[in-house]
Amino acid sequence: MSATGLRLILQTAILAVAFSVSGHAQERLAPARGGLEAKLEYCKTCHGLSGQGYLGYFAMPRLAGQQPEYIEAQLRAFIERRRSNPVMQNVAHVLSPSMVTALAMHFKNLNPKPFGGAPRGSIATGKKIYEEGLPEANVPACSACHGNEGKGQNEIPRLAGQVYPYLVGQLTGWKQQRGQGTAVDTSAIMAPTAHNLTRSQVEAVAAYVSYLQ
Ligand code: HEC
Ligand code: HEC
Repeated sequence: MSATGLRLILQTAILAVAFSVSGHAQERLAPARGGLEAKLEYCKTCHGLSGQGYLGYFAMPRLAGQQPEYIEAQLRAFIERRRSNPVMQNVAHVLSPSMVTALAMHFKNLNPKPFGGAPRGSIATGKKIYEEGLPEANVPACSACHGNEGKGQNEIPRLAGQVYPYLVGQLTGWKQQRGQGTAVDTSAIMAPTAHNLTRSQVEAVAAYVSYLQ
């Protein structure tokens, strides 16, 4: 499929989701400053002091430089249990809609160095998959949606500098975690691509993007 064709599908899918979300009345007032600061401290105990991610018992994803629309969409997905993860479901379900929006905005301007540590042996293969896809396996070029530099846009996440084991976990376990329940959401756009990548292709492309600044 051509990049333009893909973009069209994506835009249609995102519009459909945005439409269904904007049907609910959203409270957009800023939460009290102290409340926001306290919450951020809490987020950073797991996601790293500058949002760079962390390797603990679970891999904690990088939030630094992430698209606010994506962060917001994922926090809602945890709250509505469309994305299943026991840790983040507990963290997110207490957040008010205005707090979700304020938190999502915060990480955009943080710019720490990538966490690093991924194996370097298959980075060239990963770059090729990222830029050209695997036409024979129905895998589109990642860059068509995630951008040439992996910075993402709107509900499409930044991948640049994302923590390697987290990326591998997401791409190999997509359907176990995302798109739960009956509502179709943006996770469906990524599902076939995750499904069509083999484990070694996942490792290659994850290693490549994890080093992008
Ligand atoms: C106890 C540790 C912990 C705390 C505290 C925590 N998180 Fe998380 N967070 C995680 C883990 C683990 C994941 C990865 C979940 C997965 O594998 O799907 C995650 C995932 C996320 C994601 C999805 C990232 C992506 O790239 O899809 C967002 C967004 C997020 N957290 C935001 C927050 C915010 C905002 C806060 C503060 C209110 C917060 N987290 C507090 C552990 C934590
Ligand atoms: C048609 C557009 C499109 C293409 C092509 C695409 N993605 Fe995605 N990707 C998305 C969207 C949209 C999401 C957000 C899914 C959600 O809302 O759960 C996403 C999410 C992801 C995530 C989760 C990131 C996180 O922080 O949790 C990873 C990893 C990912 N994509 C990797 C890739 C790779 C690798 C490729 C190429 C092999 C690729 N994507 C190609 C649209 C695309």
